[in-house]
Amino acid sequence: MRKGLSSTYDFSSTYRENLERGPGFEGELPPLREALPRPCRLLDFELGSPFGIPAGLLLDSRWISLYARLGFDLLTYKTVRTRRQESLPFPNCLFVGPEDFEEASPGPPGRAPLPEGRRRASALLEEQAQGGQQMLRSLIGEEEGPPVWQLSPGALPPRLRARLQLQPRHLEEITITNSFGMPSRDPSVWQADMERSKSLLQKGQILIASVVGSSDPREGLSGLTEDYVRCAMLAQEARADIIELNYSCPNSSSKEGALYADPETSSHISGRVQRALRGTPLFLKVGYFPHDEPLDAVVHANAPFVQGIVGINSVKLPVAGPDGEEVLPGRSESGICGAGIRRCGLDFVGKVAEIRKRERYDFVLVGVGGVMTPRDIERYLALGADAVQSCTGAMWNPYLAQEWHKQVSS
Ligand SMILES: Cc1cc2nc3c(=O)[nH]c(=O)nc-3n(C[C@H](O)[C@H](O)[C@H](O)COP(=O)(O)O)c2cc1C
Repeated sequence: MRKGLSSTYDFSSTYRENLERGPGFEGELPPLREALPRPCRLLDFELGSPFGIPAGLLLDSRWISLYARLGFDLLTYKTVRTRRQESLPFPNCLFVGPEDFEEASPGPPGRAPLPEGRRRASALLEEQAQGGQQMLRSLIGEEEGPPVWQLSPGALPPRLRARLQLQPRHLEEITITNSFGMPSRDPSVWQADMERSKSLLQKGQILIASVVGSSDPREGLSGLTEDYVRCAMLAQEARADIIELNYSCPNSSSKEGALYADPETSSHISGRVQRALRGTPLFLKVGYFPHDEPLDAVVHANAPFVQGIVGINSVKLPVAGPDGEEVLPGRSESGICGAGIRRCGLDFVGKVAEIRKRERYDFVLVGVGGVMTPRDIERYLALGADAVQSCTGAMWNPYLAQEWHKQVSS
Protein backbone atom coordinates (compact mmCIF):
# COMPACT_ATOMS: atom_id res chain seq x y z
CA MET A 1 0.00 0.00 0.00
CA ARG A 2 2.96 2.32 0.68
CA LYS A 3 4.29 4.32 -2.29
CA GLY A 4 7.89 5.56 -1.67
CA LEU A 5 8.80 7.46 1.46
CA SER A 6 7.10 10.70 2.40
CA SER A 7 6.12 12.31 5.67
CA THR A 8 2.65 13.26 6.93
CA TYR A 9 4.29 16.26 8.64
CA ASP A 10 5.59 18.65 5.96
CA PHE A 11 9.14 19.74 6.89
CA SER A 12 9.02 22.60 4.39
CA SER A 13 5.99 24.23 6.04
CA THR A 14 5.59 26.03 9.35
CA TYR A 15 4.02 24.46 12.40
CA ARG A 16 0.87 26.55 11.91
CA GLU A 17 0.56 25.44 8.27
CA ASN A 18 0.88 21.80 9.33
CA LEU A 19 -1.78 22.38 11.97
CA GLU A 20 -4.12 24.07 9.51
CA ARG A 21 -3.55 21.82 6.48
CA GLY A 22 -2.16 18.54 7.75
CA PRO A 23 -1.83 15.67 7.92
CA GLY A 24 -0.38 15.09 4.43
CA PHE A 25 -1.70 11.66 3.59
CA GLU A 26 -3.03 10.44 0.28
CA GLY A 27 -2.76 6.70 0.77
CA GLU A 28 -5.52 4.16 0.97
CA LEU A 29 -7.33 3.74 4.27
CA PRO A 30 -7.62 0.18 5.54
CA PRO A 31 -11.08 -1.32 6.01
CA LEU A 32 -12.62 -0.65 9.43
CA ARG A 33 -11.37 -3.40 11.67
CA GLU A 34 -13.74 -6.07 12.81
CA ALA A 35 -11.57 -7.68 15.48
CA LEU A 36 -8.86 -6.28 17.74
CA PRO A 37 -5.51 -7.17 16.12
CA ARG A 38 -3.44 -7.89 19.25
CA PRO A 39 -5.75 -7.39 22.24
CA CYS A 40 -4.14 -6.59 25.58
CA ARG A 41 -4.89 -4.94 28.89
CA LEU A 42 -3.16 -1.77 30.02
CA LEU A 43 -4.29 -0.62 33.50
CA ASP A 44 -8.08 -0.82 33.20
CA PHE A 45 -8.14 -0.35 29.44
CA GLU A 46 -8.74 -3.07 26.84
CA LEU A 47 -6.51 -2.13 23.91
CA GLY A 48 -6.61 -3.31 20.33
CA SER A 49 -2.82 -3.58 20.52
CA PRO A 50 -0.02 -2.15 22.69
CA PHE A 51 1.18 0.26 20.00
CA GLY A 52 0.62 3.93 19.31
CA ILE A 53 2.00 7.43 18.86
CA PRO A 54 3.66 9.59 21.54
CA ALA A 55 3.17 13.32 22.06
CA GLY A 56 4.23 15.29 18.99
CA LEU A 57 2.82 14.01 15.76
CA LEU A 58 -0.86 14.28 16.65
CA LEU A 59 -1.30 18.05 16.44
CA ASP A 60 -5.08 17.99 16.72
CA SER A 61 -8.21 15.88 16.19
CA ARG A 62 -7.66 15.60 12.42
CA TRP A 63 -4.30 13.93 13.03
CA ILE A 64 -5.80 11.74 15.77
CA SER A 65 -8.65 10.74 13.50
CA LEU A 66 -6.27 9.66 10.69
CA TYR A 67 -3.89 7.67 12.86
CA ALA A 68 -6.74 6.04 14.82
CA ARG A 69 -8.19 4.94 11.51
CA LEU A 70 -4.75 3.53 10.58
CA GLY A 71 -4.79 1.28 13.64
CA PHE A 72 -2.61 3.05 16.21
CA ASP A 73 -4.16 2.35 19.61
CA LEU A 74 -2.42 4.55 22.23
CA LEU A 75 -2.81 8.04 20.84
CA THR A 76 -1.17 10.93 22.66
CA TYR A 77 -2.38 14.45 21.91
CA LYS A 78 0.57 16.83 21.38
CA THR A 79 1.62 18.61 24.60
CA VAL A 80 -0.74 21.41 25.66
CA ARG A 81 -0.41 24.34 28.07
CA THR A 82 -2.72 26.49 30.19
CA ARG A 83 -2.00 29.39 27.84
CA ARG A 84 -1.48 30.02 24.17
CA GLN A 85 2.14 29.82 23.00
CA GLU A 86 3.59 30.13 19.51
CA SER A 87 5.97 27.56 18.04
CA LEU A 88 9.69 28.36 17.82
CA PRO A 89 10.55 29.88 14.40
CA PHE A 90 10.73 27.80 11.20
CA PRO A 91 12.43 25.50 10.33
CA ASN A 92 11.35 23.00 12.99
CA CYS A 93 12.34 19.67 11.47
CA LEU A 94 15.64 18.83 9.72
CA PHE A 95 17.42 15.62 8.81
CA VAL A 96 20.52 14.95 10.91
CA GLY A 97 23.48 12.59 10.94
CA PRO A 98 27.12 12.35 11.96
CA GLU A 99 29.75 15.00 11.09
CA ASP A 100 30.25 13.68 7.54
CA PHE A 101 26.55 13.25 6.94
CA GLU A 102 25.78 13.84 3.29
CA GLU A 103 22.66 14.36 1.36
CA ALA A 104 21.78 10.90 0.10
CA SER A 105 21.47 10.67 -3.64
CA PRO A 106 17.99 9.60 -4.64
CA GLY A 107 17.87 5.90 -5.34
CA PRO A 108 15.36 3.13 -5.39
CA PRO A 109 13.58 2.56 -2.09
CA GLY A 110 14.87 -0.41 -0.12
CA ARG A 111 17.86 -1.28 1.94
CA ALA A 112 20.54 0.54 -0.04
CA PRO A 113 24.18 0.36 1.09
CA LEU A 114 25.48 3.38 2.99
CA PRO A 115 27.93 5.82 1.39
CA GLU A 116 31.56 5.21 2.47
CA GLY A 117 31.67 8.20 4.88
CA ARG A 118 28.63 7.06 6.73
CA ARG A 119 29.89 3.49 6.87
CA ARG A 120 33.07 4.77 8.53
CA ALA A 121 31.13 6.82 11.09
CA SER A 122 28.87 3.89 11.68
CA ALA A 123 31.83 1.60 12.30
CA LEU A 124 33.32 4.11 14.78
CA LEU A 125 30.09 4.34 16.72
CA GLU A 126 29.80 0.57 16.61
CA GLU A 127 33.22 0.34 18.28
CA GLN A 128 32.17 2.75 21.03
CA ALA A 129 29.06 0.75 21.57
CA GLN A 130 30.98 -2.42 22.41
CA GLY A 131 31.44 -3.47 25.99
CA GLY A 132 28.50 -2.35 28.14
CA GLN A 133 26.20 -2.60 25.18
CA GLN A 134 27.05 -6.19 24.35
CA MET A 135 24.39 -7.66 26.62
CA LEU A 136 21.68 -5.28 25.41
CA ARG A 137 22.55 -5.96 21.79
CA SER A 138 22.32 -9.70 22.16
CA LEU A 139 18.92 -9.24 23.79
CA ILE A 140 17.53 -7.10 21.01
CA GLY A 141 19.23 -8.74 18.06
CA GLU A 142 20.70 -5.46 16.84
CA GLU A 143 22.99 -7.17 14.31
CA GLU A 144 20.09 -8.21 12.13
CA GLY A 145 19.15 -4.73 10.89
CA PRO A 146 20.87 -2.84 8.03
CA PRO A 147 24.17 -1.15 8.94
CA VAL A 148 22.77 2.25 9.84
CA TRP A 149 24.04 5.11 11.89
CA GLN A 150 22.93 5.15 15.55
CA LEU A 151 23.76 7.20 18.63
CA SER A 152 25.48 5.06 21.26
CA PRO A 153 24.10 5.30 24.79
CA GLY A 154 26.72 6.79 27.09
CA ALA A 155 28.89 8.07 24.21
CA LEU A 156 26.97 10.84 22.50
CA PRO A 157 28.89 12.82 19.85
CA PRO A 158 29.64 16.51 20.47
CA ARG A 159 27.60 17.68 17.48
CA LEU A 160 25.42 16.49 14.62
CA ARG A 161 25.08 17.80 11.06
CA ALA A 162 21.74 18.92 9.73
CA ARG A 163 20.24 18.98 6.24
CA LEU A 164 16.90 20.34 5.13
CA GLN A 165 16.76 18.15 2.04
CA LEU A 166 17.04 14.41 2.02
CA GLN A 167 15.17 11.86 0.03
CA PRO A 168 15.43 8.92 2.41
CA ARG A 169 15.71 5.55 0.75
CA HIS A 170 14.71 3.46 3.70
CA LEU A 171 13.17 4.07 7.09
CA GLU A 172 16.33 3.12 8.98
CA GLU A 173 18.01 6.13 7.43
CA ILE A 174 15.67 8.68 8.97
CA THR A 175 17.04 10.54 11.95
CA ILE A 176 15.69 14.05 12.41
CA THR A 177 15.78 16.94 14.78
CA ASN A 178 12.58 18.58 15.95
CA SER A 179 12.47 21.96 17.58
CA PHE A 180 9.07 23.42 18.45
CA GLY A 181 9.32 24.58 22.09
CA MET A 182 5.93 23.03 22.92
CA PRO A 183 3.51 25.46 21.27
CA SER A 184 -0.08 25.41 22.47
CA ARG A 185 -3.42 26.80 21.50
CA ASP A 186 -5.63 28.46 24.09
CA PRO A 187 -7.23 25.91 26.47
CA SER A 188 -10.72 26.81 25.25
CA VAL A 189 -9.67 25.70 21.75
CA TRP A 190 -7.65 22.57 22.62
CA GLN A 191 -10.18 21.33 25.19
CA ALA A 192 -12.97 21.28 22.63
CA ASP A 193 -10.68 19.64 20.10
CA MET A 194 -9.48 17.04 22.61
CA GLU A 195 -13.09 16.08 23.36
CA ARG A 196 -13.68 15.76 19.67
CA SER A 197 -10.58 13.53 19.37
CA LYS A 198 -11.92 11.26 22.06
CA SER A 199 -15.20 10.87 20.20
CA LEU A 200 -13.32 9.75 17.04
CA LEU A 201 -11.59 6.74 18.62
CA GLN A 202 -12.54 3.18 17.79
CA LYS A 203 -12.94 0.27 20.15
CA GLY A 204 -9.62 -0.64 21.78
CA GLN A 205 -8.11 2.86 21.51
CA ILE A 206 -7.26 5.40 24.19
CA LEU A 207 -6.45 9.09 24.28
CA ILE A 208 -3.51 10.28 26.36
CA ALA A 209 -3.19 14.02 26.99
CA SER A 210 0.35 15.33 27.33
CA VAL A 211 0.48 18.44 29.51
CA VAL A 212 3.23 20.81 30.60
CA GLY A 213 3.36 23.55 33.23
CA SER A 214 4.42 27.01 32.13
CA SER A 215 6.86 28.58 34.56
CA ASP A 216 7.01 32.19 35.54
CA PRO A 217 10.38 32.83 37.26
CA ARG A 218 8.66 35.18 39.76
CA GLU A 219 6.35 32.44 40.96
CA GLY A 220 9.02 29.75 41.46
CA LEU A 221 8.27 26.09 42.05
CA SER A 222 4.82 26.62 43.55
CA GLY A 223 3.70 28.55 40.44
CA LEU A 224 5.01 25.84 38.15
CA THR A 225 3.40 23.09 40.22
CA GLU A 226 0.04 24.84 40.23
CA ASP A 227 0.23 25.33 36.49
CA TYR A 228 0.89 21.60 35.95
CA VAL A 229 -2.12 20.87 38.18
CA ARG A 230 -4.34 23.32 36.26
CA CYS A 231 -3.29 21.93 32.89
CA ALA A 232 -3.81 18.31 34.00
CA MET A 233 -7.30 19.17 35.26
CA LEU A 234 -8.22 20.93 32.02
CA ALA A 235 -7.19 17.78 30.11
CA GLN A 236 -9.17 15.61 32.52
CA GLU A 237 -12.23 17.83 31.90
CA ALA A 238 -11.66 17.27 28.16
CA ARG A 239 -12.12 13.52 28.76
CA ALA A 240 -8.56 12.27 28.23
CA ASP A 241 -8.19 8.66 29.41
CA ILE A 242 -4.71 9.22 30.81
CA ILE A 243 -2.84 12.39 31.71
CA GLU A 244 0.86 12.48 30.84
CA LEU A 245 3.10 15.02 32.56
CA ASN A 246 5.78 16.13 30.15
CA TYR A 247 8.92 16.59 32.25
CA SER A 248 11.26 16.76 29.31
CA CYS A 249 11.60 19.07 26.38
CA PRO A 250 15.03 19.30 24.77
CA ASN A 251 13.94 22.50 23.04
CA SER A 252 12.83 24.39 26.11
CA SER A 253 15.32 26.55 27.98
CA SER A 254 13.06 26.95 31.02
CA LYS A 255 12.78 24.69 34.05
CA GLU A 256 9.97 22.43 32.81
CA GLY A 257 12.20 21.08 30.03
CA ALA A 258 14.61 19.32 32.40
CA LEU A 259 12.43 18.33 35.35
CA TYR A 260 12.79 14.67 34.49
CA ALA A 261 16.31 14.56 35.89
CA ASP A 262 15.31 16.18 39.21
CA PRO A 263 13.83 13.59 41.60
CA GLU A 264 12.62 16.05 44.28
CA THR A 265 10.92 18.61 42.05
CA SER A 266 9.40 16.07 39.68
CA SER A 267 7.93 13.95 42.50
CA HIS A 268 6.63 17.05 44.26
CA ILE A 269 4.67 17.97 41.11
CA SER A 270 3.57 14.36 40.43
CA GLY A 271 2.20 14.06 43.98
CA ARG A 272 0.22 17.31 43.70
CA VAL A 273 -1.22 16.37 40.31
CA GLN A 274 -2.09 12.83 41.41
CA ARG A 275 -4.07 14.17 44.40
CA ALA A 276 -5.88 16.71 42.22
CA LEU A 277 -6.86 14.15 39.56
CA ARG A 278 -8.47 11.76 42.02
CA GLY A 279 -8.20 8.59 40.02
CA THR A 280 -7.48 9.48 36.38
CA PRO A 281 -4.27 7.54 35.58
CA LEU A 282 -1.10 9.61 35.52
CA PHE A 283 1.94 8.98 33.29
CA LEU A 284 5.34 10.73 33.22
CA LYS A 285 7.26 11.45 30.05
CA VAL A 286 11.00 11.55 30.56
CA GLY A 287 14.07 12.21 28.47
CA TYR A 288 17.31 10.32 27.95
CA PHE A 289 19.50 9.66 31.03
CA PRO A 290 23.18 9.38 30.13
CA HIS A 291 23.94 8.16 33.69
CA ASP A 292 22.10 5.57 35.79
CA GLU A 293 22.07 7.37 39.12
CA PRO A 294 19.44 10.06 38.53
CA LEU A 295 17.32 7.53 36.62
CA ASP A 296 17.12 5.27 39.67
CA ALA A 297 16.35 8.21 41.95
CA VAL A 298 13.71 9.69 39.62
CA VAL A 299 11.89 6.37 39.22
CA HIS A 300 12.01 5.74 42.96
CA ALA A 301 10.73 9.25 43.84
CA ASN A 302 7.87 9.22 41.32
CA ALA A 303 6.72 5.59 41.49
CA PRO A 304 4.27 6.17 44.40
CA PHE A 305 2.34 8.75 42.38
CA VAL A 306 2.21 7.51 38.80
CA GLN A 307 0.72 4.61 36.87
CA GLY A 308 3.08 4.83 33.93
CA ILE A 309 6.50 6.01 32.72
CA VAL A 310 7.00 6.94 29.07
CA GLY A 311 10.46 7.36 27.58
CA ILE A 312 12.41 8.59 25.90
CA ASN A 313 11.84 12.07 24.57
CA SER A 314 14.16 13.29 21.80
CA VAL A 315 17.84 13.43 22.77
CA LYS A 316 19.26 16.93 23.17
CA LEU A 317 22.41 17.60 21.09
CA PRO A 318 24.14 20.51 19.34
CA VAL A 319 23.14 20.65 15.67
CA ALA A 320 24.84 22.67 12.89
CA GLY A 321 24.76 22.96 9.10
CA PRO A 322 27.39 21.51 6.69
CA ASP A 323 29.78 24.45 7.36
CA GLY A 324 29.14 24.66 11.07
CA GLU A 325 26.51 27.38 10.60
CA GLU A 326 23.40 27.81 12.71
CA VAL A 327 20.44 26.06 11.10
CA LEU A 328 17.70 26.55 13.68
CA PRO A 329 17.35 30.30 14.28
CA GLY A 330 18.48 31.20 17.79
CA ARG A 331 19.10 27.68 19.00
CA SER A 332 22.28 25.67 18.68
CA GLU A 333 20.89 22.56 20.41
CA SER A 334 17.75 20.61 19.67
CA GLY A 335 16.03 17.27 20.12
CA ILE A 336 17.14 14.27 18.04
CA CYS A 337 14.63 11.55 17.22
CA GLY A 338 14.00 8.72 14.77
CA ALA A 339 16.18 5.72 13.86
CA GLY A 340 19.37 7.18 15.36
CA ILE A 341 18.09 7.17 18.96
CA ARG A 342 16.77 3.61 19.02
CA ARG A 343 19.63 2.27 21.08
CA CYS A 344 19.21 5.08 23.62
CA GLY A 345 15.48 4.27 23.94
CA LEU A 346 16.09 0.54 24.28
CA ASP A 347 18.82 1.18 26.82
CA PHE A 348 16.37 3.30 28.86
CA VAL A 349 13.59 0.72 28.74
CA GLY A 350 15.95 -2.12 29.70
CA LYS A 351 17.13 -0.16 32.73
CA VAL A 352 13.68 0.95 33.90
CA ALA A 353 12.30 -2.57 33.49
CA GLU A 354 15.14 -3.81 35.71
CA ILE A 355 14.46 -1.17 38.39
CA ARG A 356 10.74 -2.01 38.26
CA LYS A 357 11.46 -5.69 38.77
CA ARG A 358 14.01 -5.14 41.51
CA GLU A 359 11.78 -2.73 43.47
CA ARG A 360 8.53 -4.54 42.64
CA TYR A 361 6.85 -1.47 41.25
CA ASP A 362 3.76 -2.01 39.16
CA PHE A 363 3.76 1.02 36.85
CA VAL A 364 3.28 0.59 33.13
CA LEU A 365 6.34 1.17 30.94
CA VAL A 366 5.89 2.72 27.51
CA GLY A 367 8.92 2.48 25.20
CA VAL A 368 9.59 5.31 22.74
CA GLY A 369 12.57 6.16 20.54
CA GLY A 370 13.57 5.11 17.04
CA VAL A 371 10.73 2.68 16.40
CA MET A 372 10.74 2.57 12.60
CA THR A 373 9.77 -1.05 11.83
CA PRO A 374 7.65 -3.87 13.30
CA ARG A 375 10.90 -5.48 14.47
CA ASP A 376 11.64 -2.41 16.61
CA ILE A 377 8.27 -2.78 18.34
CA GLU A 378 9.18 -6.37 19.19
CA ARG A 379 12.58 -5.26 20.49
CA TYR A 380 10.97 -2.91 23.00
CA LEU A 381 8.41 -5.47 24.11
CA ALA A 382 11.16 -8.07 24.59
CA LEU A 383 12.99 -5.72 26.94
CA GLY A 384 9.96 -5.28 29.20
CA ALA A 385 7.90 -2.44 27.71
CA ASP A 386 4.15 -2.94 28.17
CA ALA A 387 3.42 -0.70 25.21
CA VAL A 388 5.41 1.02 22.48
CA GLN A 389 4.95 4.30 20.59
CA SER A 390 6.52 5.67 17.42
CA CYS A 391 6.65 9.32 16.37
CA THR A 392 9.19 9.72 13.55
CA GLY A 393 8.51 6.18 12.27
CA ALA A 394 4.74 6.77 12.13
CA MET A 395 5.32 10.13 10.46
CA TRP A 396 7.20 8.42 7.60
CA ASN A 397 5.28 5.16 7.58
CA PRO A 398 1.63 5.68 8.48
CA TYR A 399 1.06 1.95 7.85
CA LEU A 400 3.47 0.89 10.61
CA ALA A 401 0.73 -0.28 13.00
CA GLN A 402 -1.00 -2.22 10.27
CA GLU A 403 2.25 -3.86 9.15
CA TRP A 404 2.97 -5.01 12.71
CA HIS A 405 -0.62 -6.19 13.28
CA LYS A 406 -0.44 -8.25 10.10
CA GLN A 407 2.76 -9.93 11.31
CA VAL A 408 1.45 -10.75 14.79
CA SER A 409 -1.87 -12.04 13.57
CA SER A 410 -0.47 -14.21 10.73
C1 LIG B 1 7.55 16.58 15.31
C2 LIG B 1 7.75 16.16 16.74
C3 LIG B 1 7.12 16.85 17.76
C4 LIG B 1 7.27 16.45 19.09
N1 LIG B 1 6.59 17.10 20.08
C5 LIG B 1 6.59 16.60 21.35
C6 LIG B 1 5.76 17.17 22.38
O1 LIG B 1 5.01 18.13 22.16
N2 LIG B 1 5.80 16.61 23.61
C7 LIG B 1 6.60 15.52 23.91
O2 LIG B 1 6.56 15.02 25.04
N3 LIG B 1 7.39 14.98 22.95
C8 LIG B 1 7.39 15.48 21.70
N4 LIG B 1 8.16 14.88 20.72
C9 LIG B 1 9.04 13.76 21.08
C10 LIG B 1 8.35 12.40 20.80
O3 LIG B 1 7.23 12.18 21.60
C11 LIG B 1 9.32 11.23 21.05
O4 LIG B 1 9.62 11.16 22.41
C12 LIG B 1 10.62 11.37 20.26
O5 LIG B 1 10.38 11.88 18.98
C13 LIG B 1 11.31 10.01 20.12
O6 LIG B 1 10.51 9.10 19.41
P1 LIG B 1 10.74 8.76 17.84
O7 LIG B 1 12.17 8.37 17.71
O8 LIG B 1 9.75 7.68 17.56
O9 LIG B 1 10.45 10.02 17.09
C14 LIG B 1 8.07 15.32 19.39
C15 LIG B 1 8.72 14.64 18.36
C16 LIG B 1 8.56 15.04 17.04
C17 LIG B 1 9.26 14.27 15.95
